[in-house]
Amino acid sequence: MSYSIHIHNPGGPEVMKWESADVGAPGFGQVRLKQNAIGLNFIDIYYRKGLYPTQMPFVPGMEAAGIVDMVGDGVANLKSGDRVAYAMVLGAYAETRLILADQVVKLPDEVSTQTAAAMMLQGMTARYLIRDIYKVGPNDTILIHATAGGVGLILCQWAAALGATVIGTVSSEEKAHLAKANGCHHPIIYTRENFQKRVLEITDGKKLPVVYDSVGKENFMKSLDCLQPRGLMVLFGASSGAVPPLDLAVLAQKGSLLVTRPTLATFVSTRSQLLENSSDLFDVVRTCKVKININQTYTLKDAAKAHSDMEARLTTGSTILTV
Ligand SMILES: NC(=O)c1ccc[n+]([C@@H]2O[C@H](COP(=O)([O-])OP(=O)(O)OC[C@H]3O[C@@H](n4cnc5c(N)ncnc54)[C@H](OP(=O)(O)O)[C@@H]3O)[C@@H](O)[C@H]2O)c1
Repeated sequence: MSYSIHIHNPGGPEVMKWESADVGAPGFGQVRLKQNAIGLNFIDIYYRKGLYPTQMPFVPGMEAAGIVDMVGDGVANLKSGDRVAYAMVLGAYAETRLILADQVVKLPDEVSTQTAAAMMLQGMTARYLIRDIYKVGPNDTILIHATAGGVGLILCQWAAALGATVIGTVSSEEKAHLAKANGCHHPIIYTRENFQKRVLEITDGKKLPVVYDSVGKENFMKSLDCLQPRGLMVLFGASSGAVPPLDLAVLAQKGSLLVTRPTLATFVSTRSQLLENSSDLFDVVRTCKVKININQTYTLKDAAKAHSDMEARLTTGSTILTV
């Protein structure tokens, strides 16, 4: 018997129930994983609240790492004992789970299962944001919101390693120090300073070619004002709420701006995309260009507490739930 977190109705952290489940043997193309650690992501909160509808009851969580303990028919590339990780596959808040072999990647020796659980979703997101959506380079000055968060700290380090000048927004002095220690050249404490004004000052009025905004509602319109003509607004989250419908004429008025609303799922939808993205991520971690900051660890059973803390902006960097 294995335990997992189950949600029977959408709601606050208290709807997450620790219940036993019979996982069974893997079917065709599947493996059974004994999970060591699960990554906590803001998307888990959207699912819990019902903002991303799914059939109830369900097991939340989108990423984890662990050991293959049983292999189903038709699986050639994995064997019992392999260390693997995955992201964007619902059902991660579990001690043991079944998953398609094609949805997991093998871990290099240098990457522990705890680090992998902390970085797969946030790290592969950072990679598609700065390599696929827009190729960040040494001549770019870019703005990253929620810089001290999970995606934020990885994105910031990776962009700095590519030579970019990074401007980041954070809510507190402590988070500003953390952002700075992780490659953010100009942290802006948005609770005290107007970030659009600071962007103008930092860039001598030139503004930016790209803004990465995961905060959504509170920042979206202000972020558009930080862009150069033909600049790119990458809205990739809604931590403060969903952005209301946009009058597209605004994009013309503000200088022929481009807007995209991407999701990681699209960028790792094929096996080759998943392997290419994760291999780049393993490389930057192995070569210490990006350090994964596991700043909070909870037991899986305590997932409700982890959710409350993340929603209250008490977490920084990455968070894992251990089994
Ligand atoms: N589209 C994709 O492919 C994709 C993939 C992964 C993640 N995401 C998105 O990226 C964002 C970051 O995810 P994460 O897991 O790394 O979380 P996170 O950044 O560690 O946590 C969210 C942070 O957002 C900031 N924030 C601003 N307004 C907030 C509000 N009203 N409530 C709560 N937090 C607020 C807080 O930082 P401050 O205290 O500094 O304000 C908070 O720490 C989320 O919006 C998530 O949905 C998108």
